Amino acid sequence: MASEGPRARHVAIIMDGNGRWAKAKHLPRVMGHRQGVEAVRKLVRAVEAMGLECLTLYAFSSENWKRPEDEIDDLMNLMRKFIKSDLPEFIANDVRLKIIGDWRGLAPDIVAMLDDALAQTAHGRHTLAVALNYGSQQEIARAATAAAAEGEITPESIAAHLDTADLPPLDLLIRTSGEVRLSNFLLWQCAYAEMIFTDVLWPDFTPAHLQAALDDFAGRERRYGGR
Ligand code: IPE
Ligand code: IPE
Ligand code: MG
Repeated sequence: MASEGPRARHVAIIMDGNGRWAKAKHLPRVMGHRQGVEAVRKLVRAVEAMGLECLTLYAFSSENWKRPEDEIDDLMNLMRKFIKSDLPEFIANDVRLKIIGDWRGLAPDIVAMLDDALAQTAHGRHTLAVALNYGSQQEIARAATAAAAEGEITPESIAAHLDTADLPPLDLLIRTSGEVRLSNFLLWQCAYAEMIFTDVLWPDFTPAHLQAALDDFAGRERRYGGR
């Protein structure tokens, strides 16, 4: 049963399906994103009780700039609102916010809000890592460049320069909405991660779904190439 197997320290989620959720309900796309933020909020409140050290969420990819401008505006405005409304709760609940990706390339006011949120949550015990303007190939290229500047390029020297260098190894990757691909997310970190792909659309994803994924994970045998 759940408690017998490995316990996940670090879970990452590709939060996908907001658009399809809205479409199925004949709602504007932005409503799917709004409901997606609600799902994030509920999940963040629940992870402490689940014993996770780190939850990493894919919120905006470096490829999402290809979307129509009004959708990008909606997503950025939701981000602004979310940081403002939920920062006090992060502080109260001992959440350490971390941002991965090229987030300094976002709008200056968002960068300033994030800088402030990072400073105010720096000593939290549970990490919520949010991937913003994130692309894994870009992250690896940046890390390899930094590693080369210091000396030899090795798996260890690259890993030490990834945005996730200070996080526990990735145990479990979950993607919602039925798509079975990584979409440029944590390619390096997924080397030995377990994976779960679910048809649930992100706005419908609840803490119970995460618990079910953790139970599934606990039943898996990880071999890392050994036997
Ligand atoms: C995920 O939902 C949210 C982001 C990528 C920002 P989508 O907007 O990709 O929803 P679908 O895949 O079109 O249903
Ligand atoms: C991945 O979802 C990015 C996020 C969830 C933030 P996409 O919806 O952008 O991925 P593709 O385009 O289906 O691969
Ligand atoms: Mg999608």
